[in-house]
Amino acid sequence: MTAHLGLIGGGNMAYAIVSGLIASGYPANHIHVSDPSETSRDRLSGLGVHTTDKNQDIVARASVIIFAVKPQVFRAVGEPLAGQFSQQHTVLSICAGIPIKRIREVLQLSEEQRVVRVMPNTPCLIGEGMSCLTSDRPVAEAEKASLAALFTSCGQALWVADEEAIDAVTAVSGSGPAYFFLLMESMMRSAARLGLPESVARQLVLQTAVGSALMARQASDPPAVLRAQVTSPGGTTQAALEVFEEGDFPGLVDQALIAARDRAFALAQD
Ligand SMILES: NC(=O)c1ccc[n+]([C@@H]2O[C@H](COP(=O)([O-])OP(=O)(O)OC[C@H]3O[C@@H](n4cnc5c(N)ncnc54)[C@H](OP(=O)(O)O)[C@@H]3O)[C@@H](O)[C@H]2O)c1
Repeated sequence: MTAHLGLIGGGNMAYAIVSGLIASGYPANHIHVSDPSETSRDRLSGLGVHTTDKNQDIVARASVIIFAVKPQVFRAVGEPLAGQFSQQHTVLSICAGIPIKRIREVLQLSEEQRVVRVMPNTPCLIGEGMSCLTSDRPVAEAEKASLAALFTSCGQALWVADEEAIDAVTAVSGSGPAYFFLLMESMMRSAARLGLPESVARQLVLQTAVGSALMARQASDPPAVLRAQVTSPGGTTQAALEVFEEGDFPGLVDQALIAARDRAFALAQD
């Protein structure tokens, strides 16, 4: 039987998850969303789901509940709901940087109650996201699959070992879109400096990014091999790659990801 799913917070991520679920066949009348904003509720009602401005209604109607509010308001949203969750509820949170320990404390959940933390990323908004899930308690394989399925509706999803891994995930896929956007941005600027019109620079960079990503995903070889295949000795690609090497591009990426991972850890301690 399909679980009644509730989302507290009906903003962009909630809309992405709900649209994906409905497109993949999840019954709209089993989805409930609360949000104070009439505009957000209307947008979601357009998908055929139940909407309300009362978060308590979500806890009463759904057994699987996703907190999809901004991290800054998690405590203010959660505290009035404390003590209203039963053993039948599974609580998920996509709020960046809110550790499971804090979710349990704010919602007054017992150690036995299931809490799952999820780190999605912005491409979820176009159905190409990467979401990682973790819990502080063992979860049966069948339940892992059904909870991951909530997020495969807007991209790919996988379970990781623990919250320490979620900090690393935050550094890689959570913040990752920004790194690729930075490279695109830099290449577009350089292409314009080389004399290409802005619109041409944009098209070249974006299609090269999409083509390379799809090629890397489809190939059985790792990216290092694909890179070697397009690098003729003494050729143009080699000339460019040597400049990246001289600037220690791999070392810089390493430092950047470590900084993001450390920041994720520090934010969770606040
Ligand atoms: N966007 C991403 O790519 C991304 C990636 C990873 C993680 N996340 C996490 O996903 C969560 C949601 O992000 P988002 O981008 O969807 O943000 P968003 O568009 O701002 O959505 C949050 C929604 O929560 C609503 N809200 C505010 N107070 C509420 C309350 N008391 N009860 C119920 N709903 C309330 C907001 O309404 P108002 O607009 O009226 O305030 C808004 O519609 C965040 O915690 C973020 O860290 C997002």
